[in-house]
Amino acid sequence: KKIRIIGIPMDLGQNQRGVDMGPSAIRYAGLAPTLQALGHETFDSGDITIPGHYSLKNTSLEERLPPIRQACQRAYELGKTAVTNGEIPIFLGGDHSASLGTVGGVSHDSPVGLIWVDAHGDFNTPETSASGNVHGMPLAVLLGKGAKELVDVGRPGAKMTPEHVVVIGVRDLDEKEKVLLKNSGCTVFTMRDIDEFGMRTILQNTLEKFKDLPRIHLSFDMDVIDPIEVPGVGTPSHGGLTYREAQLLMETLADTNKLHSVDVMEINPILDISNRSAQMAVSLMASLFGKSII
Ligand code: ARG
Ligand code: MN
Ligand code: MN
Ligand code: MN
Repeated sequence: KKIRIIGIPMDLGQNQRGVDMGPSAIRYAGLAPTLQALGHETFDSGDITIPGHYSLKNTSLEERLPPIRQACQRAYELGKTAVTNGEIPIFLGGDHSASLGTVGGVSHDSPVGLIWVDAHGDFNTPETSASGNVHGMPLAVLLGKGAKELVDVGRPGAKMTPEHVVVIGVRDLDEKEKVLLKNSGCTVFTMRDIDEFGMRTILQNTLEKFKDLPRIHLSFDMDVIDPIEVPGVGTPSHGGLTYREAQLLMETLADTNKLHSVDVMEINPILDISNRSAQMAVSLMASLFGKSII
């Protein structure tokens, strides 16, 4: 396969510095050589320039919206170009706000099934958000809710319909966000569902739901994995996926041959231990792109 690596060193969607180093950390952990060893061709577009990155006062949502919008617009265009050229883009975050651009771009000409794997719902709007952080909003934006300048990135309006969205691994929702997500029409598999039914069943249900969709976009927030395995994230949450549950998700998606594009988000190397979280990301990408145990 032809794989296009696109770095999005976005840190404006939240308040901590360091998540902008995520793309470097994942490259440094050996993403490209690992994929090449599996027989794939890789192309690296480098990093998107995030405007105003160090110059912002980094306070108000109003101040951050224009540069976030611009970076997401660029991510949209790079994603669109990659899939048009028959490449599978891997977007390296950066905070999760960038996915409001990536998902729109890769679905520019035909719908994708979106699997949003996250400890959080990322379903806030500026009205419901307690933090004001845009990385808590991108899934709502993709469904057409929230700040219009974000909803209209790439092309006007919602990029996803709720029937095409499955959320997996969620365990930390804000109170108002809970109501929005519950009523959204998206399929949501919480950590409790994973505990009760097992990852295998959750994935079977997800794939059954997407059986008529030939393409899947995986938006993977690394904080979905338990912080014992992945400490290098800005918003860690206890009780996450185990190493094996995360690998099984990747292995199962690899078997479908439907993977169209993927986001690997929220790694913050400054909060990490010896790049462990980025190494985990590379190991997961290996499974997603066909590495099998035997
Ligand atoms: N719900 C919280 C908020 O809206 C946390 C969001 C975390 N999102 C993420 N992509 N890590 O601020
Ligand atoms: Mn997220
Ligand atoms: Mn397409
Ligand atoms: Mn998250």
